[in-house]
Formats: sequence, structure tokens, C-alpha cells
Amino acid sequence: MTTTTTTIQMAVRPWRLDCHVAAGDDQRAVDELRQSLSATPPTISPRWFYDDAGCALFERITGLAEYYQTRTEEALLDARMDAVIEAVHPTELVEIGSGAATKTRAILGAMARADGLHRYIPFDISPGAIARSASALAVAYPGLRVHGIAGDFSRHLGKIPRRQAGGTRLVAFLGSTLGNLEPAQRRLMVRRLARLLAPGDALLMGTDLAHDPAVLMRAYDDAPGVTAEFNRNIIRHINRAFEGDADPDAFIHEAIWNTRASRIEMHLRASRPIDWDLPGLDLRLHVPEGRTIRTEISCKFTLDGVAALYADAGLRLTTWDEDALGRYAISVAVKD
Ligand code: SAH
Ligand code: TRP
Repeated sequence: MTTTTTTIQMAVRPWRLDCHVAAGDDQRAVDELRQSLSATPPTISPRWFYDDAGCALFERITGLAEYYQTRTEEALLDARMDAVIEAVHPTELVEIGSGAATKTRAILGAMARADGLHRYIPFDISPGAIARSASALAVAYPGLRVHGIAGDFSRHLGKIPRRQAGGTRLVAFLGSTLGNLEPAQRRLMVRRLARLLAPGDALLMGTDLAHDPAVLMRAYDDAPGVTAEFNRNIIRHINRAFEGDADPDAFIHEAIWNTRASRIEMHLRASRPIDWDLPGLDLRLHVPEGRTIRTEISCKFTLDGVAALYADAGLRLTTWDEDALGRYAISVAVKD
């Protein structure tokens, strides 16, 4: 099992990984999946996107011409991080949903320039993504202590190690992953993130903004079909995890813009009747032709909406920077 391999490797690597998501370890996630698949309409939590193949597909999404979000966020970080770090003086960075941690270098670089870079704590559902990024970052920043946590951010944030005494913590939640949560879960999430902070610490978030629906739609339905493949990969992952037999190619990728909720929704539509046998979940699912399974929501924000989330969590918004086209924003909030 992955856990064992990881533990053995850890001893000889300059980073550490605690795993809370090993197979069979997270019964609640399995029960939730059974319930959500049986519901009308059926849904799948986006956490199931991110097996190793899904992480690799997501990396391809971030490089797509249509997916402006990643390069826009990276440019904002490059332009703004020195000023942010100067104001906050963090000594450690905790990153939630760190993925490949590419943009993280803009933050770590600014921390290093300010002589404040001591510890990096990547937190992700994918142990593989943490292992890959941790080893690369440990090489790029000699002396940096990397302590990865593989966990579900709606459940395992309590596993994050205690703050360093006398240090200052910056928590980053990038990629507009906040938008993948339903409104109630979103508020809870910002409150949970606020609980990781002590007075003087700060939260940095990247949020995609509400703007031209045509541009937004293309970002989730690209011409080369990478997002379609990413969406269908969720079927492959669940097949493998629960001995399922559904043909991923029997599902058609669909992105829709929901104006009322200001969000993109991702669906998988059955192109023919599908009987999905999942013995590992103790479930047989019938998906009639034309019926969809919802796999993701991606809510689009406004300044007022983000400010309200911070205020609800007892945080004070200190900086808000958006790109010239008003498509994406990074913001910082502090605990007083
Ligand atoms: N921060 C990166 C990746 C964003 S994609 C970027 O901005 O490009 C979302 C990331 O969150 C993925 O790496 C995925 O593995 C992780 N993730 C998704 N659901 C999660 C959950 N429930 N708990 C922890 N991590 C999760
Ligand atoms: N947080 C990203 C977003 O909402 C995740 C994402 C990008 C995504 N493209 C996707 C999720 C396609 C599912 C399908 O933009």
C-alpha cells in the first residue's frame, strides 16, 4: 500500500508526509460517495477527481489557453507577493489544496527574499502530488522544512502541525478551490481556515470572479478536450477504487453556466443507459440515457462576497488585487 512505501522513503528524504487518506482509512468519504451516487440527481464529490491521472490532467488544464485562471493568478502573485510578505512577515506557509505547488514558488521566493522561509506545509487529498512537489521544493529551497499532510480539507485540517512558537503563519488557498464548495460549506471552510491562524497571521486566497459567461464556459469546455477527459477520469478512479465496470466513454462532458448561482457546473451525461456495478461500494446504479451526474461546481466571486466570507470568519480583508480584465483576484485577510 502507498502508505508503507511512503513511510520507508520518508526516512531518507528531507521532507515528511503524514497520510490520512489511505484506502480503507476514510470510511466516511466512502459512505458519502455511496449516498451521493444514490441521490436524485446523483452527484460525486470533486475530491474523487484527484487520483494520479487526475492530478496530471489537472496540470494540463492549468496550461490551456482557455484556462486563464492559473496564469492570471500566477501573474498576480508574482506582482504582489513581496509587498504581502513585507506586511505579514510569515515564517511558515500552510497551503491547502496545494496540488503541483507550481504557483507556490512565487510565495516561497518572496518569503526567502524576506529571510522568513522556514517551513512549508502542503495539504492535499493526493499523497502523490504532495510527494512530488515536496521533493522538488526541498531541492529548490535548501534548508526548507517540508511537512506534507495528505487529508481531506473538510475533515482533516486539525492534523496540521501546531504553529511554530514565535513564528508567523501564512495560510494559502489558491486556484479558486473555495468556489468548488457549496455556499454553506464555503463559509465553514473559511471559518476553519481562520482557526489555523493566531493574531498577526494571514490568509491568502485566489478567487475567480464573475464576468463574461462565454469566457468562463470555454475555461471548462476547452477545444482540445482536456477538461472532458479530466471529468471522465472521475469514473475511472471510482471504477478502480470500488471494482466498478462503467465505460467512462459512455459519459459526455457538459459544462453549464448557472446565472442565478453565479457558477459553472460540470456534469457527466449518459449517452446510453448505463448499469454501473460497484461491488466495493455495495451499490448497483442505473443511469438512464440522457441523465446526468454532477461532478463539480465552480462558483464565481465578487469583492463583496469574498469580504463577507472573511468577516463571517472574524478576519479583516487587507488587500484585494485583480487583473486588468477583472477576471481573477488574490486577496489577503488578517486575524487581529
Ligand atoms: N492549488 C493548485 C491546485 C488546485 S486544484 C492550483 O491552484 O493550481 C485543487 C487541488 O485541491 C487539487 O490538488 C486536489 O487534489 C485538492 N483537493 C480537492 N479536493 C480536496 C479535498 N477535499 N481535500 C484536500 N484537497 C483537495
Ligand atoms: N478550482 C478549479 C476551478 O474551479 C478546479 C477546476 C478547474 C475544475 N477546471 C476544472 C474542476 C474542470 C472540474 C473540472 O476552476
